[in-house]
Order: sequence, then C-alpha cells, then structure tokens
Amino acid sequence: MDTPDWVENEELVAWVASMARLCTPKAIHWCDGSDEEYAALCEELVEAGTFIRLNEQKRPRSFLARSDPGDVARIEERTFICSRSEEDAGPTNNWMDPREMAATLKGLFQGCMEGRTMYVVPFSMGPLGSPIAQIGVQVTDSPYAVVSMKIMTRMGRPALDVLGADGEFIPCVHSVGAPLAPGQEDVPWPCNDEKYIVHFPETREIWSYGSGYGGNALLGKKCLALRIASVMARDEGWLAEHMLILGVTDPEGEKTYVAAAFPSACGKTNFAMLVPPPAFTDAGWKVTTVGDDIAWIKPGEDGRLYAINPEAGYFGVAPGTSYETNPNAMESFRSDTIFTNVALTDDGDVWWEGMTKEKPAHLIDWQGNDWTPESGTKAAHPNSRFTSPATLNPALDESWDDPQGVLVRAFVFGGRRAGTIPLVVQSFNWAYGVYMAATMGSETTAAAAGAQGVVRRDPFAMLPFAGYHMGDYINHWLGFGRKLRNPPRIFQVNWFRRDEEGNFLWPGFGENMRVLQWMVARSRGRALGLESPIGWMPRYEDIDWTGLDFSEEEFFQCMAINRRDWSDELLDVEALFMKLYNRLPKEMEGVRSLTTSALWRSPTHWEMNADPT
Ligand code: GTP
Ligand code: SPV
Ligand code: MN
Repeated sequence: MDTPDWVENEELVAWVASMARLCTPKAIHWCDGSDEEYAALCEELVEAGTFIRLNEQKRPRSFLARSDPGDVARIEERTFICSRSEEDAGPTNNWMDPREMAATLKGLFQGCMEGRTMYVVPFSMGPLGSPIAQIGVQVTDSPYAVVSMKIMTRMGRPALDVLGADGEFIPCVHSVGAPLAPGQEDVPWPCNDEKYIVHFPETREIWSYGSGYGGNALLGKKCLALRIASVMARDEGWLAEHMLILGVTDPEGEKTYVAAAFPSACGKTNFAMLVPPPAFTDAGWKVTTVGDDIAWIKPGEDGRLYAINPEAGYFGVAPGTSYETNPNAMESFRSDTIFTNVALTDDGDVWWEGMTKEKPAHLIDWQGNDWTPESGTKAAHPNSRFTSPATLNPALDESWDDPQGVLVRAFVFGGRRAGTIPLVVQSFNWAYGVYMAATMGSETTAAAAGAQGVVRRDPFAMLPFAGYHMGDYINHWLGFGRKLRNPPRIFQVNWFRRDEEGNFLWPGFGENMRVLQWMVARSRGRALGLESPIGWMPRYEDIDWTGLDFSEEEFFQCMAINRRDWSDELLDVEALFMKLYNRLPKEMEGVRSLTTSALWRSPTHWEMNADPT
C-alpha cells in the first residue's frame, strides 16, 4: 500500500490514508493513467465478467458492460445538495443538514470497500494547466469507473503534476457499496439498492454511494463539473453550464463558436457533432466539436467570454445514433470504446434501436437475454451509452484542448417540446435571453430514473445540476451579462415539435445547420428577422433551404405561436416563479408580464405565424 514516489502532495496522501481507514479496502492502487494500466484494468474487468470483449476486427479494444437493471441512469431523488442552510440549496434541490448527512455517510462508507481495491484517480477537468481547469481526485472501488474516467478526463500522473506539492484538489469519494466478505463471490455489476449522490458545496466535497453508473459514478462529470463548479462559478464570477460547444466555419473561413444548453438526452451530442447537409458542405461550411455536454466559461481581459470543455471524452446516448443521424459519433466509437447496456450482435458487435433501419434477426439484449424483433422489448436500454475518446471524433475542433478556451458569440437553449415552442427565436436582449433560458421547459427522458415524457421546467437545462438556489443562479446569469462587452446573443430552439399524429415537424440532425447558420449570422449582426411577441424570428426567406424540400407552410407549422398554448405556458412559468419567488430577480416577472401583454396585443407583423384564434 505504499504511496508511489511520484505523489508529492502531502494533503492528498493524508486524505487517501483517511479514506482507506474509513473504507477498509484490501489494497490501494494509485492510477498513473497510462495506456498499460487501462488495458490491464479492462482485462481484469473481462475476467470479472463485467466486460465482454467485442469483436477485435469490428470494434478494436472495445467492451460491452451490462449494468444491474436497477442501476441504469442518474437518480435525481437520491441526489443531495448539503449546503449549511437549506435555503441556499433552494426548492429545486434535495437537501439534508450537512452534519446529519456526514454522519449518515460515515455509517455507509465504514468498511464499504472491504475485499475490494480502492483506486485513487487524479484527474483534470479541462486542458492540463488551463487557468479555467480544476483538479479533482476520486477514490473509488469500481474499476469500471476508473477506465471510464481514463476516457472522460485527463487522468493520472499528468494531473498530479499539475497539482504539484501544494495545489488544491476537489475530493470525490465513490463506492458501489458492496463490500465482499472473505470467500464471497463477486457479481458482474456490484451496487447497492440504497443510493446517495451527495454534494457539500461549502467544503467542495462529493460523496457517492451505491451506484456504478454514469454521472452517479464518474464524479468529475455532473457532480464536480456542474454541481460543485456552479457554486465556484457563482463565487468567482464565471459560468459552469450543461452546454455543448461547437465551432462553425463559413465559406470565407470565419469561425464562430456557439455554446448550447439542452437538457439530458435532448440533442447536445448530436448538435455538437453536426454534419451539415451536402449543399452547405459543398459551399464550404464546416462544424467542429469542442465539447458535447459541459462548458466552463470565463470572461477574458477583453471583457468577452472564453469557454473550455472540461471533459476529454463522450458519454453519449446510444439509441438513435446512426450514420444518418450522427456519423461523427459513429466514427468516434469505432474503436477504444466502452459501451454500456447496448445489445450484443451474434458477431460480437453492438446494436441499439435506431442504429440501422433493419433490425438484426437475433441479438443478446442489454440484460443478457436472447432477443429477436418479435420480442416486443427494447434490445438496448433507452439510456444505454458509449464512452469514447474525443480524439477519435473526426470533427474535433483544433482548439478543443486550448487552455485559453474559445470565444463564445452565441448561447442557444433548447428543450424537447411537442408543441408551443417554435423552431427558433432570438431574445431581444440579455435579460430576455436569461428569461427564455430560465423558463425553458422540456420533456423528461431516460437519462434520469422516473417518469418520462412529462414536461417540466428545466431552467438552463440545469435543474438536476445547479449546486445552489435556482433563483440565485438566474440572478448570477443576469448580473454576469451586464459586465460583458458585446455579450453573446441568446437564442431558443426546439427540434422536437410534433404534428397531431406525433411525427416530428422538423427533420432535425444535419438540417439543424440551417437554423445554426441563421443564428451565427444574427450573432454577427448580418441576418434579417421579424419582431414577434417572444423575440426575433427568421422569415421563411431568411433561412437557406438549398437542397431541402421544405415548404413555407411546413416552416410556419414549426414556427407557429399559438395563443392558447402560450397561456398554459405562462401559467406554468408563473408556478416556477412562485417556487423561486424569494430569490428570483424582479426582471424575470417583468419580462413575463411584457411577454403576456405582447401576446395578447397582437401586432400584425407576426400573425403570419400565428394560430388564427
Ligand atoms: P446527454 O448526454 O444526456 O446530456 O444527452 P444529449 O443532450 O447529448 O442528447 P443526444 O445528442 O445524445 O440526443 C439524445 C436523443 O435525441 C438521441 O436519441 C438523438 O438521436 C435524438 N436527437 C438528437 N438531435 C435530434 C434532432 O435534431 N431531432 C430529433 N428528432 N432527434 C434528435
Ligand atoms: C446527462 O444525464 O445529462 C448525461 C449523462 O450527460 S450522465 O453523465 O449520466 O449524467
Ligand atoms: Mn448531459
């Protein structure tokens, strides 16, 4: 259990020793992050039955993991923000007194790693040494979490080198909560029915117990890079957001970076890796990926905003991913990838719903059972995912690893909405934009346990990820924009509007380029639009339709502002505002009032888009 000589941080050594005393593992493994270590751990996971090695010709160095059927997604009702005061966590977070929670956790973690190895995983969220990056150290008894962290972060010795002898790190404690008694046989996916995902914002600590899946177990992602980082960002004057970052290069070679927040499983990875339609590509348009899930954004000395992607890989939703919808993702997991809860083909490859038009005649489903198209069940779990390195994405942006970040010119917010919300609107100004983002609604998805397809308010796509009171969070955004020189323009999009039969009205995916092009032009002050009661909207002729047969009438269906729908919407927004009332900035109620009166005093110039009632 000796500490390797390349570990020089005394505080870290002492903390690891105290965690070992608490969790009583049989061994401690300090992760150096090398490829050899990764390969050896994957081999151990194969031997343990957690991993199935995929066909080496079809998916080199890739594996399939099947989780426990009770451990397949984030669990919001077991996620806690334990600030000293309940009021600081706010009404949208679960809260428990930090002393009480600490006592509970002490009981749970006591001896929880018995019979297992405790891995010490140092990692950097963000390019190594970037002024925007942060160092974390996760101790975990899950080798699955370790190999996932290797893909998703800059992990191992390089992160410790940045930490140095007296740097500060964010401590992250993780256990699957399944101690092994002497002689007890292990299961392929150890976990515990009792789960806790706990954040202490004041002491910047993370404790996760009982789950081995995704954001519950890879503590650098949602726990550190969003819940803890959002608190740090509030205190230090920056932003930690559930946003992709992409670059758009126009035919003249001018580059525009855009950051976009969509709730979980609502299209970030797809938008970040967008492949423009042939007419655009031929003309010289290009989209490149900086990040697909999280953005850390800081004002530079020039008063403008610079963003980094704190991650180094993609933990992407598998179902729906195909060469038609997201060819860059398909390329990024051609090798060196961990798949979780997808189906296994007879030739040792992977499959999921939507990957090919034709379903394979036989598969092993995500629970290890035989499956045929007649089975009537999903072969892959709806929240099945791929974990693949960013460096394999053919569209990776040249500045993705730049410690200074990229200059952001536009923010986009988009929910999954069957109705009400138009394809695209630009806010009138920063405060309107903050209102737009703060009042965003979206249907719940399989990314979190619980009911699906229910519209809920998801401010800034951060409802499950804000580490403090949502009213304060909105206020932080409002004040933040005032300090900027030429702040980014703010847009709202909805790729998911449907007709009465439930068909999507908008083709989506690569065709989203047409909307993106308009947004980029608007953010550079170049495109036209119409003033509507809810913001600036493109007219049919303001969008480039080359190569797509999409009529003016179809466009109006995607853009329609229906007054009855909007009265329901505004009531729901009021309910959110009542919930946040004591910390909600006054401007939000002001914009809601202005929007309400604008919708009811219909100016004629937007009625072409309006429902006749
Ligand atoms: P998280 O990783 O959970 O944060 O999700 P995400 O926001 O990255 O979502 P992702 O891009 O993985 O998309 C989720 C699902 O929505 C997938 O099944 C996609 O195929 C589907 N999707 C993405 N973009 C579009 C679109 O433009 N139109 C339609 N109809 N579906 C889309
Ligand atoms: C999300 O749910 O938004 C994800 C997946 O990106 S997880 O990392 O599991 O939170
Ligand atoms: Mn996400």
